[in-house]
Amino acid sequence: MVLNETYTLSNGVKIPKLGAGTWMIDNDTVVQVVKGALDSGYRHIDTAEAYLNEKGVGRAIWESNVDRDDIFVTTKLDGNIKNYDEAVKAIDESLKHLEMDYIDLMLIHSPQPWAEFRDENNHYFEENLEAWRALEEAYEAGKLRAIGVSNFEQRDLENLINHGKIKPMVNQILTHITNVPTGVIDYSHSQDIVVEAYSPIAHGAILDHPAVKEIAEKYEVSPAQLSIRYVLQLGTVALPKSTNKDHMKNNTAVDFTISDEDMKALNDLPLIETYGDDEDQPVFRSQYKNK
Ligand SMILES: NC(=O)c1ccc[n+]([C@@H]2O[C@H](COP(=O)([O-])OP(=O)(O)OC[C@H]3O[C@@H](n4cnc5c(N)ncnc54)[C@H](OP(=O)(O)O)[C@@H]3O)[C@@H](O)[C@H]2O)c1
Repeated sequence: MVLNETYTLSNGVKIPKLGAGTWMIDNDTVVQVVKGALDSGYRHIDTAEAYLNEKGVGRAIWESNVDRDDIFVTTKLDGNIKNYDEAVKAIDESLKHLEMDYIDLMLIHSPQPWAEFRDENNHYFEENLEAWRALEEAYEAGKLRAIGVSNFEQRDLENLINHGKIKPMVNQILTHITNVPTGVIDYSHSQDIVVEAYSPIAHGAILDHPAVKEIAEKYEVSPAQLSIRYVLQLGTVALPKSTNKDHMKNNTAVDFTISDEDMKALNDLPLIETYGDDEDQPVFRSQYKNK
């Protein structure tokens, strides 16, 4: 079952292939959402300092019937933090908010601060090395079981690989049907970096796609299930989000195989760029186009 399947990070730590996202779910609501996810069998929860819901995520985990050690918890260093001292402080704050003495995975959320997201003129190479040093030290101190990055392009990864002490173990990037950043996925995999697909359902925008619906019907699955299975077959971790318990459960039933022919048909679909009211979010601006 996909729910029990894992990838192995370069340091040997196992990461469940399916995780539950928590973006844009407030601190109160997230308690029930995370408890619902744990009830549905998820053992991997994805949060971030910037989501302002780490306290709720921690509370849900401690109040659940599942052992903390059986849950893989990811958080992210705010993209705006680009110096060592603030990063050290922020890591300790995440531990405090989650009420945990270790976090399974912590990522630098973005190569650029949010206001400059995907600004080609500045990749903050020096500043990311500063933030990375704080993560490396927390990793070595046992506060973090694994460390990685998010939204990093190849040159951002190369900066850490060439000048950092520890190679990133994960790169979490926007990946969904019609938007597959093949270049950065292949580069990450070539460096033994596990790729996580965020927004695998295109933030909901893929659900009404006629070609996706047609292929989903053929496999007797929902468009959401097809979208999740698709990113798993790309060899990435899938991080769907739902606040609806039925959807959450539905999204775990992805033990089917998309044929090579249908994977190719899905790969060939042109990019959809409609993210509704959320398209002003930095993560949806000027994404990878290097298909
Ligand atoms: N690193 C980054 O910069 C970054 C950026 C964005 C996202 N992320 C991570 O990735 C996670 C997922 O991304 P996302 O939140 O953008 O969205 P997503 O998973 O691509 O899509 C979520 C949307 O799909 C709907 N949905 C989910 N399952 C469904 C189902 N079975 N049937 C019908 N509708 C369904 C949800 O509505 P319902 O709630 O009604 O089910 C919601 O509207 C985030 O929560 C976050 O953890 C990371």
